[in-house]
Amino acid sequence: MELVWSNFNVCSCCLLQVLECYIISIESFIIPLLSAIWIMLPAYVPNPIAALFGGGTPIDFGRNSPDGRRILGDGKTYRGLFSGILAGISIGLLQIWLSGMFGLTNLPHHTPLSVTLLATGALLGDICKSYFKRRRGKERGERWPIADQYDFVAGAFILLLLFDPSWILTYVTLPVLLVILILTPILHRVINIFGHLIGVKEVPW
Ligand code: CTP
Ligand code: MG
Repeated sequence: MELVWSNFNVCSCCLLQVLECYIISIESFIIPLLSAIWIMLPAYVPNPIAALFGGGTPIDFGRNSPDGRRILGDGKTYRGLFSGILAGISIGLLQIWLSGMFGLTNLPHHTPLSVTLLATGALLGDICKSYFKRRRGKERGERWPIADQYDFVAGAFILLLLFDPSWILTYVTLPVLLVILILTPILHRVINIFGHLIGVKEVPW
């Protein structure tokens, strides 16, 4: 009887430990995940909005580079650039308002500067990517893996590092950065497939 009881105690102890580990791992996963999404929203929104509202005058005005290829190409337009940046900043300002309204103190604290840098950096990164894509002889819309998925993250983070380094160093911790690096290409793919299906994007990547 004694043996059965002590076995039961050992078992329930193990079970509690497993449960505790599970809860801790959920916490250490869910919080960086929510933080990553919250941080990146002002940078995730500009690209799809540019695809939705873009068109018209290209940023390079149709000019070629000395290599005979377009400087940026018809995929980078003023309308896309400004509508995208405006949408990214608007989402960010909404997040700031929601934070204050509902006391979302556990999430990273956006500021007007952080959301402006994230939204602007996202589309500047996209433009720089297109510049180098053309120099490599790739046509508009052609696939360029890695660069296509991470251009806007790189652009957003470079602007933050230049103009608000304390903000990025405070909130983009290593776990959050890891989640951003894993989540971004997945979201990018899903949104582009959706954009292609509804006819906003010519190609599903
Ligand atoms: N877009 C725009 N202006 C921008 C960015 C995007 O008008 N500054 C629009 C264009 O209609 C573009 C679409 O959004 O075709 C999708 O954007 P993206 O995939 O970045 O452009 P691509 O057409 O793939 O061109 P590139 O090869 O230069 O990336
Ligand atoms: Mg593209």
